[in-house]
Amino acid sequence: MSVRRLAPDEVQPASFAFTPDNLAWAQKTIAKYPAERKASAVIPLLWRAQEQHAYWLPKAAIEYIADMLDMPYIRVFEVATFYTMFQLQPVGKKAHIQVCGTTPCMLRGAEALIKVCKSRIHHEPFHLSEDGDFSWEEVECAGACVNAPMIQVFSDTYEDLTPESFEKVLDAFARGEKPAPGPQNGRHGAEPEGGALTLRDLPFNAASPGGTAVAEKPKVAPAAPAPEAGPSAEALALAAKEEAEIKAKLSTLSADATPEQKADAVGSRPQGLPAARDAKADKLQRIKGIGPVNEGKLHALGIFHFDQIAAWTREEIRWVGTYLSFPGRIDREEWTVQAKALAAGSPSVKE
Ligand code: FES
Repeated sequence: MSVRRLAPDEVQPASFAFTPDNLAWAQKTIAKYPAERKASAVIPLLWRAQEQHAYWLPKAAIEYIADMLDMPYIRVFEVATFYTMFQLQPVGKKAHIQVCGTTPCMLRGAEALIKVCKSRIHHEPFHLSEDGDFSWEEVECAGACVNAPMIQVFSDTYEDLTPESFEKVLDAFARGEKPAPGPQNGRHGAEPEGGALTLRDLPFNAASPGGTAVAEKPKVAPAAPAPEAGPSAEALALAAKEEAEIKAKLSTLSADATPEQKADAVGSRPQGLPAARDAKADKLQRIKGIGPVNEGKLHALGIFHFDQIAAWTREEIRWVGTYLSFPGRIDREEWTVQAKALAAGSPSVKE
């Protein structure tokens, strides 16, 4: 890793101060810690300062935060210069690319990604591209090794990259879009490529003695193939665009807004049922992406059946996604597509 130094004086601003909103947020954050331990807020405050200042930390911001936390300047410099999440000099306006070069990513092709950075951005790290839109650096493990190779751009990671898919991510940033973060090869999270490969026919049976896994015969013959392909690139781009719009709307709400208030601001609540039909709810957890917690929340909204989810409109998808605190995920995980297939009798992609 290169030596991390502050930017030269000629690019340093004369002063730094939080905006009123960020100042209120900082005071709230500091108040979470005992007064004699307020230095514990140093990392979130530095991060907020970086976000406010075009994603890099000038000297004035470091000193401003040291003053806020009654810390010696050198202590805050130590933190800011140690963590590669903090940028100490101006970075690309549209994206600063942090390429993980640690062993798992290196073995899976990080060097080819660095070649792309060198040819498209600048032949050396920490230099701006000609248009000032991009910059790059190599960093140590970012904790997504299972999806190597990967890059980080500000708060998001882009994983399972090839030089070609990395170029596409860069193209999207260059157009001013925010590409959908996460794996870029169509797999969900860190699951095996092509879907689950193990325990597909051994569902956990809590009712069995000792809670051991027992085989269950499928009760319904499959009527249609399960959706395996994942959302198209266009669908992912639309989901990312909508997610950005939702985030922008939510940022105008008060910090104390309830999940309902947030959801109401961006969509329409789907009509729920007073109870499951015939007192028998579908097992919503068969939809990939729905776990026991979210199944419980959906039940509380009166959503018990696959056909209810399959019929959600865009407005309703926005409402539910925001209510569950993950706008965009319903599209990325294709809940409605899965629900339609399950309502038609298909086995879920989880099984
Ligand atoms: S080695 Fe690259 S994310 Fe861990």
